[in-house]
Amino acid sequence: MNPIETQGLTKIFTSGLMKRFEVRALDDVSINVSKGEIFGLLGPNGAGKTTFVRILLGITYPTSGNALLFGEPVSRHYNKKKVGFLPENHRYPMHFSGEGVLRYFGTLSGIDRSLLSKRVDNLLHLVNMTQWRKMKIKKYSKGMLQRIGLAQALINDPEILFLDEPTDGVDPVGRKEIRDILKRLRNEGKTIFLNSHLLSEVELISDRVAILKKGQVLKSGAVDEFTTTGDEYEIKYDGNIDDTLLNKIKSIDASVRLENGTLYIAAESKETVNSVLDTLRSNGIFVKSMSQRKSTLEDSFINLINEEQKI
Ligand SMILES: Nc1ncnc2c1ncn2[C@@H]1O[C@H](COP(=O)(O)OP(=O)(O)OP(=O)(O)O)[C@@H](O)[C@H]1O
Ligand SMILES: [Mg+2]
Repeated sequence: MNPIETQGLTKIFTSGLMKRFEVRALDDVSINVSKGEIFGLLGPNGAGKTTFVRILLGITYPTSGNALLFGEPVSRHYNKKKVGFLPENHRYPMHFSGEGVLRYFGTLSGIDRSLLSKRVDNLLHLVNMTQWRKMKIKKYSKGMLQRIGLAQALINDPEILFLDEPTDGVDPVGRKEIRDILKRLRNEGKTIFLNSHLLSEVELISDRVAILKKGQVLKSGAVDEFTTTGDEYEIKYDGNIDDTLLNKIKSIDASVRLENGTLYIAAESKETVNSVLDTLRSNGIFVKSMSQRKSTLEDSFINLINEEQKI
């Protein structure tokens, strides 16, 4: 049973007299997230990402379709205890210390006092905030606030974590820290669902992603499926590749291009790639490295969004 599952989830917001204005915020969205997976939901502004998470948290109701946590409709009370949430642009009362925030939310969740103290200590340690636990949060940097926010989302020891833009506004070092914490949580078996517009971040930590536009899933799958651009290889070499040699390679049935001292080949089979390497070597070229070419998730995202616009 998947921790998160939606089937044909649709949400239509209506407004105006006679409900004349309709926004289809989600349109037949079916997504499955497995246990211990980091899943990234991507999409331009207004795509429906927050609406999706709000439905799974039971804050908003769907117009049609099903939203399930651990195989049960989200409306079931006990499910929520297993869920943690870090909202976008969260605000805690400024007079609280970091530790105070955790104690406050822990008490609200009904956690027993002695257990709470232990959990607060552990979480402060996990997010590397023990040193600043007594400091008022108004003195915290954005990165420190996000780390405390993450600890707050974990206070009830949830099995699923929903994070809305967890690294927004955080500097690169802070982002790496948050990524490392999320990976550690994933390795402990927690399921992590994140909304983000920081594509390079999502690429670094997500196992799978879905791209949402105007409420519809354009594509979903493993990050690799978005970033591998077929059978193109990048070869770094020492030596001189002249036209004669280039033509020789072309005759092996590989498409070839030389760009800024790097050779790119696209070939149907691994044998062809090997023949190209043999030809290079037997012509006195030293092959320094070869790697399969990847596009970034951002390239893939922009292509998908643009392709859709052309239709
Ligand atoms: N309460 C509401 N009433 C009416 N329309 C709404 C409401 N909440 C969201 N919408 C509309 O639904 C669509 C999806 O909004 P949503 O906030 O889910 O997008 P998002 O992908 O989270 O965007 P962003 O990246 O800007 O956070 C938008 O067109 C938005 O205007
Ligand atoms: Mg949003």
